Amino acid sequence: MTHFKKSPSLYTLVFIACVILLSCPLILSITDPSDVQALQVLYSSLNNPTQLNGWNSSGGDPCGESWKGISCEGSAVVSIQLSGLGLNGNMGYLLANLLSLRTLDLSNNNIHDSIPYQLPPNLTSLNLARNNLSGNLPYSISSIVTLNYLNISYNSFSQSIAPIFANLQRLSGL
Ligand SMILES: *[C@@H]1O[C@H](CO)[C@@H](O)[C@H](O)[C@H]1NC(C)=O
Ligand SMILES: *[C@@H]1O[C@H](CO)[C@@H](O)[C@H](O)[C@H]1NC(C)=O
Ligand SMILES: *[C@@H]1O[C@H](CO)[C@@H](O)[C@H](O)[C@H]1NC(C)=O
Ligand SMILES: *[C@@H]1O[C@H](CO)[C@@H](O)[C@H](O)[C@H]1NC(C)=O
Repeated sequence: MTHFKKSPSLYTLVFIACVILLSCPLILSITDPSDVQALQVLYSSLNNPTQLNGWNSSGGDPCGESWKGISCEGSAVVSIQLSGLGLNGNMGYLLANLLSLRTLDLSNNNIHDSIPYQLPPNLTSLNLARNNLSGNLPYSISSIVTLNYLNISYNSFSQSIAPIFANLQRLSGL
């Protein structure tokens, strides 16, 4: 009987240990959920390329797991650098979720379709050179007033782009 009196506390400890172990992935997930969602959509829009180590279209923690090409400050994704990795797909529709993103470099790939209208609002550097992007340059680029480097050379754009840049006084690297 004494055995049964003591054992509940043991079971309780084991139970608590199990709960802690099972919830570890949640506790350790440090990346802002809206940033995670944006990267998941980007990944599936690029057709889930295996060369992007760590990336996952349905789960994961980009900052905590150091996804390839991702840099963070605290829980925020601040840089995506995926130049020259043979990426083939489009840029997806959720990039505007990346509120803290400053650098986006997707140059030297084979990314196609048009540049999405919704872009990260606080970018300072956007490099999309040497892809196969087409259509028009979205007017929304002109509202990214923080932008000081933009490279869209060697693509398949269809219209003249000059009028868009009247707003972008900091732009120097076009
Ligand atoms: C992606 O994340 C899901 C959910 O967390 C997980 O079940 C799956 O194994 C992960 N896939 C890869 C390739 O890591
Ligand atoms: C980014 O821009 C949005 C407005 O578009 C603003 O609310 C937000 O505070 C900015 N975030 C950072 C980290 O600068
Ligand atoms: C670029 O895209 C066009 C269609 O927009 C396609 O015909 C062409 O084959 C693509 N070029 C490359 C190098 O993939
Ligand atoms: C833009 O990208 C092209 C292709 O990678 C490169 O040759 C050019 O020097 C870049 N321009 C600037 C201003 O960085």
